[in-house]
Amino acid sequence: MKITIREYREADYAACRSLYGELAQHHAEIYEDPSIAGDDPGRGFDVCLKRTDRRGSWIAECHGRVVGFAGLLDVVGQQSVAEIEPLVVTAGVRDEGIGSDLVGHIRSEAKKLGFKFLSVRPELRNERAFQLYVRLGFTLVGGVELFQDLAPDRGRTWRSGIEILGQKLNY
Ligand SMILES: CC(C)(COP(=O)(O)OP(=O)(O)OC[C@H]1O[C@@H](n2cnc3c(N)ncnc32)[C@H](O)[C@@H]1OP(=O)(O)O)[C@@H](O)C(=O)NCCC(=O)NCCS
Repeated sequence: MKITIREYREADYAACRSLYGELAQHHAEIYEDPSIAGDDPGRGFDVCLKRTDRRGSWIAECHGRVVGFAGLLDVVGQQSVAEIEPLVVTAGVRDEGIGSDLVGHIRSEAKKLGFKFLSVRPELRNERAFQLYVRLGFTLVGGVELFQDLAPDRGRTWRSGIEILGQKLNY
């Protein structure tokens, strides 16, 4: 499959908003919590475009169709650290290397922009994404985002099975 990666343009808006919707739906599915996607799963894309820490956005195109989207953020308050956010490839063409290509492209763009570190913050529950990032060289752990569930009655379930520095945690 011939894939082109290029900068995001306004004409890509509808396709990318729909991709962002797929990302939100995916998160809703892995947590079995439809409220994550809500009535308009793509709405987060509008917020994403307005972020002032956004340093670039790229799409993957196949035969003129937008099949992937990735963005690069400047992590505010952490000098020289960039973050990949978001990354999504449409469901029909996953596992064909497009996500890896997008990450590779972003890595070179981040270097060109002078960043010294590139980070990503996948949900740990998103095991495929986590494995992909580790395979692509994200093997250093910086901060860890710890949560308490303040509304356990809503029924969000958590899995056991990870241990960090001797502490058993759920994810
Ligand atoms: C995560 C995501 C972006 C990965 O995109 P992708 O295009 O499927 O990624 P790749 O094809 O490069 O890699 C996926 C797997 O396919 C395999 N693969 C890579 N190139 C391949 C190729 N040419 N042919 C067949 N398989 C291939 C890889 O081994 C990889 O497996 P691994 O991660 O277990 O090692 C995509 O699954 C997605 O959009 N998921 C939903 C949204 C999401 O979770 N986004 C990430 C948020 S942090």
